[in-house]
Amino acid sequence: MKFGWILSFVACALCVGCERAEVPAYKLSAELTALAKDDYDKPDELRKQITEQLEKHCGTPLHPKLIGHPKLSAEHLVRGAAVYRERCAACHGNSGYGDGPAAKTMSPLPRDYSKGIFKFVSVVDGSKPLRDDLRRTIYNGARGTSMPAFGLLPERDLEAVVDYVLVLTHRGELESALREAAVDEEEEIDDKLAQKLADGVAKKWIVPRSKIIHPLTVEPPYTWESIEKGREAFAGANGVCFKCHDRDGSARNLLEVGKDPWGHEGRAADLTSGMFHGGATSLDIYRRIYGGVKPMPAFATGYPKDPDMLWHLVHYVQFISGARRRDVVEHSILPKVER
Ligand code: HEC
Ligand code: HEC
Repeated sequence: MKFGWILSFVACALCVGCERAEVPAYKLSAELTALAKDDYDKPDELRKQITEQLEKHCGTPLHPKLIGHPKLSAEHLVRGAAVYRERCAACHGNSGYGDGPAAKTMSPLPRDYSKGIFKFVSVVDGSKPLRDDLRRTIYNGARGTSMPAFGLLPERDLEAVVDYVLVLTHRGELESALREAAVDEEEEIDDKLAQKLADGVAKKWIVPRSKIIHPLTVEPPYTWESIEKGREAFAGANGVCFKCHDRDGSARNLLEVGKDPWGHEGRAADLTSGMFHGGATSLDIYRRIYGGVKPMPAFATGYPKDPDMLWHLVHYVQFISGARRRDVVEHSILPKVER
């Protein structure tokens, strides 16, 4: 009897031990780690101050807080953090810098949330995404990348992990804002400044309706005529898309497209693979073309004389999207494209 009690005590102590070992504290960002005396006369002091403010506004992995949502239940965020550690941290990293142990060999890399920038969104270039945009990607995954679909998670877990991604995102944004204020603007970091910057982060995420992409025109019918117009704009004499995506849309020649916002060489999408990273509906594809996917520029104002052109491009992209499977890229079914 007594022995059993001791055993369970030992088991319990062990358990608490592993729980602790499994939940590391948030780590410093690469920028904050690299901060040297040249940047700021007391880098260690600044790192300490920023870490304290981040903890105050964003909490810890065991007690997270979401900037701008003080009333969100602690239990909800604790749940989100637990789901995240179990399902996402291996790729996205415990602190959300996209540097989990499984990330190294992936292309594209898992998202580093800390910049507050996302790819598959329903808003115009430069706007923060809607919460629903993040939810959609988490629900559906990003087909053709390592990002899995989590649509089978229980509803409560899904909602909680979306909010926890926002915790990590806002934490990264607040950290940059604090660092820039101290280093670039030589401001003293105190509670007042940190509160002001945290409020600034929250404000940016209140997205006005005017930022949401609404198609300029109603989708015209999917006809050969529409596909042909799209082909011309994609790969014809005045076409632009082929410069990155290749004439046949396969991007197989790995044309240089510039760096993405995370500082890595970008890669144009293979539009013939049948797998759209950001969703395959007409509206998904329209939004990608309208708003861009860095380093792909936004084409919102690309065709002022013919606003239907964005839909023709959508139709052409949909037409070639199954090309690799249908094995027609090299064959005759595709409208003729000069090579
Ligand atoms: C096996 C690795 C892996 C796992 C596990 C994983 N992700 Fe991802 N995730 C990725 C990759 C890779 C990308 C980048 C896709 C791209 O850039 O096209 C990504 C992108 C994202 C994005 C950014 C979408 C955008 O619009 O920019 C979000 C949000 C996200 N993941 C959330 C999650 C959440 C939440 C979980 C856990 C429930 C999770 N991921 C689990 C690999 C993973
Ligand atoms: C400067 C190079 C560049 C140009 C020009 C360009 N793209 Fe892109 N495109 C990209 C990159 C890079 C991506 C993002 C791939 C990723 O990270 O998922 C992309 C992604 C896309 C996607 C999303 C695919 C998906 O998996 O969801 C579509 C659709 C697309 N491009 C269509 C077009 C069309 C149509 C045009 C011409 C109007 C065009 N692109 C012009 C570089 C470019």
